Amino acid sequence: MQRRFTDRVAWVTGASSGIGEALARGLAGEGATVVLSARRQVELERVRATCPEPDRVRLLPVDLLDGEARLAAATAAQAAFGRIDVLVLAAGVSQRALALEAELASVRRLFELDFFAAIDLARLVVPGMVARGYGRVVVVSSVVGHVPTPGRSAYAAAKHALHGWFDALRAEIHGTGVRVTLLCPGYVRTQISHHALRADGSPQGVLDRQIARGMEPEDLARRALPAIARGRREAWIGGWEVAAIPLRRWLPGLVAWRLPHNRPH
Ligand SMILES: NC(=O)c1ccc[n+]([C@@H]2O[C@H](COP(=O)([O-])OP(=O)(O)OC[C@H]3O[C@@H](n4cnc5c(N)ncnc54)[C@H](OP(=O)(O)O)[C@@H]3O)[C@@H](O)[C@H]2O)c1
Repeated sequence: MQRRFTDRVAWVTGASSGIGEALARGLAGEGATVVLSARRQVELERVRATCPEPDRVRLLPVDLLDGEARLAAATAAQAAFGRIDVLVLAAGVSQRALALEAELASVRRLFELDFFAAIDLARLVVPGMVARGYGRVVVVSSVVGHVPTPGRSAYAAAKHALHGWFDALRAEIHGTGVRVTLLCPGYVRTQISHHALRADGSPQGVLDRQIARGMEPEDLARRALPAIARGRREAWIGGWEVAAIPLRRWLPGLVAWRLPHNRPH
C-alpha cells in the first residue's frame, strides 16, 4: 500500500459515517495522524477502533451547526498535533423535498451545515496551512454540485455555493502550496438518504434505491486519495451518473430533458 500521507496531520469532519469515515480510515492507512469529528462520540470511537493505529487517532466531537463550537473545535484540532495538513470537509446533510414546499428554516439549516460550516472551518484552518507552505483542503461536494436534480434544490444550491467559494479561494492562495480539491461523488452507499431533510426539516428515514445501489465508501476513498495527495482541482467519482457532469456542459438540452424523470425514490 502507498503511504502518501506519512507524517501528515488530517482533520476529517463527518468522520462518524459514510464518506468521511472511509476517507479518515484511508488517510490513517496511508500514514496520517487523524483527528475525527462529528456529533456522535460512540460512532467516532467505533471508527477509531477500525483505524490501523488507533493511538494516532484523536476524537473531537462537535456539532458543526454551532458557530462557537466550530471555533473551539478548530482551535482544539490544530492544538491536538500542532497543525492540520489535510482538512477534509465531509460533514453534510442532503434533502428530499420539492423546492416550493421546503420550509425556509430547513433550507437555512442545510446551508449552515453544508456551506457555512465548511467555509468557516476553512477560514480557521487554511491560514495556518498557507503560513507553513503546505496543505490539502478536501471539500466533499457532489455530482449535484454540478447538476441540480429534483428534490434537492437547497442541497444543489449549497453544493454550487461551495464550488463558487472554494474556486475563488483556490485562486487567491495559488502558489502557496495549499491545494483545494472539490470531490464530486455520485451515489455512495451511506446514511445520507436516511438523514436527508424533508420539507419540514425532519429526516426522511429511508434508504433510497439509488443510494442502496451506490458505490461503497471505501471504493470512493481508494479512488479519491490519489487525487487528494496530488491536489487535483476536482475529482468526479461514481458510476454512470457522473457522466451527467460533462454531459450538462456539452449537451445541456439533453440533461434538461432527462432531469424531470429523475425524481427521488
Ligand atoms: N452518499 C452519497 O451518495 C453522496 C454523494 C455525493 C456527496 N455526498 C456528500 O458526502 C458527505 C458525507 O455524506 P455521507 O454520504 O457520508 O452521509 P452520512 O453517512 O449521513 O454522513 C454524514 C456525516 O455528517 C455528520 N454530521 C451531520 N450533521 C452534523 C452536525 N450538525 N455536526 C457535525 N457533523 C454532522 C454525521 O455525523 P453525526 O451524525 O455523528 O454528527 C456523519 O458523520 C456529505 O457532504 C454529502 O453531501 C454524499
